[in-house]
Amino acid sequence: MAAPEAWVHGGAWDIPIEERSAHAEGCRRAAEAAGRILAAGGTALAAVVAAVEFLEADGTFDAGDGAVLTSDGTIETDAGVMDGASLRLGAVAAVPACRHPVRIARRLLDEPELSILAGPGARRFAEKTDVWKEVLDVAGHPRERRRFRQLSATRKTVRIAFEGDPFPKGTVGAVARDARGNTAAAVSTGGTPMKPPGRVGDSPIVGCGFFADDALGAASCTGFGETILRVQLAKEACRSLVEGNAETVLASAFDDFVRRANGVGGVILLGTKGPGAVRWNTPTMAWGRWTPEGCVAECPATANR
Ligand code: GLY
Repeated sequence: MAAPEAWVHGGAWDIPIEERSAHAEGCRRAAEAAGRILAAGGTALAAVVAAVEFLEADGTFDAGDGAVLTSDGTIETDAGVMDGASLRLGAVAAVPACRHPVRIARRLLDEPELSILAGPGARRFAEKTDVWKEVLDVAGHPRERRRFRQLSATRKTVRIAFEGDPFPKGTVGAVARDARGNTAAAVSTGGTPMKPPGRVGDSPIVGCGFFADDALGAASCTGFGETILRVQLAKEACRSLVEGNAETVLASAFDDFVRRANGVGGVILLGTKGPGAVRWNTPTMAWGRWTPEGCVAECPATANR
């Protein structure tokens, strides 16, 4: 029997001081949601989807209810889910105004002939399979409507994210290992503020924003997707698990991302054995961890790299 464990993340960027306790609290409650499922003998897959759904509905994070807006003032959300036992995956990209894209991604796991759907097609699939009545339309959080007006006035775009600006490069995600030793990963995001419509980052791309394989483990990423895509961060972090458990290997895999890809972001990693780990190089990152011994969540004021 493996020791069940779950990790969640709620974005890696310069999270304002006044928003940090809400970020930590949201992560704590999402990790507890995953933990309740694992403690009852549920699957890692069910645990990561429940955690991400919680974070999507919270409104604090750049996902679901709290998603940032595109340069047109619209909302386009991305999500991905992978089951490490079967290697089945589902992902959606640029879904218009969707509160729970992770549910559509999860539903795609059950479709043998589909893995990734983009744009209105993802919405049409959800309507056809009855998932849409669960995923709901999202109108745009007042905080993000304000941010959009400010950014429109100064004509700032996502391109300046490389310069260390304080705009969300957030994403929410989760990894889990259940009592059978099976792993799973999930991720969901509104992307980057003022992204051009149609822009897709790392989140719905398997191996980049999320990855799970019971031969290795599970990873979920957050941060500036254009840099995460360059090194397939989630897959590389999982591949490093052949050398040891997450706590011992993540630093080197993450440093490679920072050095070679000019990487900006963070990752949670959990193997089939041993404790998981978190690493980020942004000024802050929100994360939470559940084990049968209890739950911790933080939004620390410094990078751990
Ligand atoms: N990591 C989320 C994005 O870049 O879209």
